[in-house]
Amino acid sequence: MDIGQLFRLDNKTALITGASSGIGKHCAMLLSQAGAKVAIASRRIDQLQSVVDEIAQLGGQAKAFELDVTNKKSVTKCFDEIAQWSLPTIVVNNAGMSINRKLLDQTEEDWDRVIDTNLKGCWLVATEAARHLAATNTPGNIVNIASILGERVIGGVAPYVISKAGVVQLTKVMALELARHQIRVNALLPGYVITDLNREFLLSEAGQKILSRIPSRRFNNLEDLNGPLLLLASDASTAMTGATIAVDSGHLISGL
Ligand code: NAI
Repeated sequence: MDIGQLFRLDNKTALITGASSGIGKHCAMLLSQAGAKVAIASRRIDQLQSVVDEIAQLGGQAKAFELDVTNKKSVTKCFDEIAQWSLPTIVVNNAGMSINRKLLDQTEEDWDRVIDTNLKGCWLVATEAARHLAATNTPGNIVNIASILGERVIGGVAPYVISKAGVVQLTKVMALELARHQIRVNALLPGYVITDLNREFLLSEAGQKILSRIPSRRFNNLEDLNGPLLLLASDASTAMTGATIAVDSGHLISGL
């Protein structure tokens, strides 16, 4: 057995949603380096072009597609366009957002935006992908980016916490129903990952307080996600479905 090939994604196409920044962009670059053709999708196609260019410079193949995960018509249209290019057998549901407000200050609009993006969006994209795969008897692999907040709670982001708990259950129910179509569905639960958006906060005094509650006393870097992402995206995880993998330097087990 060639262990070097275990995590390779040659001759596969992967779709990554919300790939214009942060974890999604990192994931697109990573899966491309592992040999996959990558379809990257987000609301603003102009913001994706630099990612396409970066991947091309490194010798990979990528194409940008416009996608609003909250809108069924947009999801259907995007999938039809991607499938014409190359049907993705790996789908990473990464698009997500949060609104930071106390429970009693959250508005109905806040609730709808967060739940629609994180939970409904994940469901729309995953089921559309599964329909395309099932219709062509093609085995596939869906990776949902949830969060440790799918399993533990903090204040100030109620719709986010609830949406991610929903993604965890969605992962399991999809794994159950799609196994007969040879489609695997697993979830990654990152703890705090340092990205451009949160770097300042995580390095602030408030961020350092959070750090003191993480057993390994470290926030995650984007690179910490590489191994777990490649495991779930590749055939190395052939026997895994319905699994939830925390990548959090022990944050979940701290109970704090
Ligand atoms: P980010 O804000 O850099 O990335 C989110 C991406 O989703 C962006 O590209 C954005 O354009 C896209 N997006 C938002 N709404 C969309 C929509 N309606 N349709 C299509 N695309 C849309 O944030 P980050 O940190 O990279 O987060 C990525 C995922 O990882 C999210 O699901 C987030 O909840 C999750 N996560 C992040 C953690 C962190 O500490 N950064 C920790 C745990 C989970």
